[in-house]
Amino acid sequence: MLSRKAEDYLEAILNIEEKKGYTRIKDIALALNVKPSSVVEMVKRLDDRGFVNYRKYDGVTLTPKGAEIGRAVWGRHTTIRAFLEIIKVPEPTADKDACIIEHELEPKTIEQIRNLVDFVKSAPDYPQWLEHFEVFCNTGVHPCVEEKRKGKRASVV
Ligand code: FE2
Repeated sequence: MLSRKAEDYLEAILNIEEKKGYTRIKDIALALNVKPSSVVEMVKRLDDRGFVNYRKYDGVTLTPKGAEIGRAVWGRHTTIRAFLEIIKVPEPTADKDACIIEHELEPKTIEQIRNLVDFVKSAPDYPQWLEHFEVFCNTGVHPCVEEKRKGKRASVV
């Protein structure tokens, strides 16, 4: 089992590598908001365990084993972020919290969140229940309940 911190490093290195094509210590320090000296320390440990290759002047590259974990963590991140955005969490918060939750959940939970995200995104039209959810967030009233109440009143009159 990798620590949460180690997972964050592999995830960050994967993203930097994909964006820039290479990764330097300072890129990781910037991405994770930590001191370069801490990055060197951690990267050396990840190198010892076979997750990255670190050469002082060439920077850091992921080994296949490290890349596999980086991709898995990033996959969990994007799934959770998409879910949080569906339930109307603002993007910066969704991104920040996804990076916390991504380390904690059981695979089955992630799978079901992924299913929900895919289900919502594959709907041909914007789902009515989500429209109702937005109204509910803003007013505290479920539109269906309101409609039913109105319907009842109409039938009494
Ligand atoms: Fe993350």
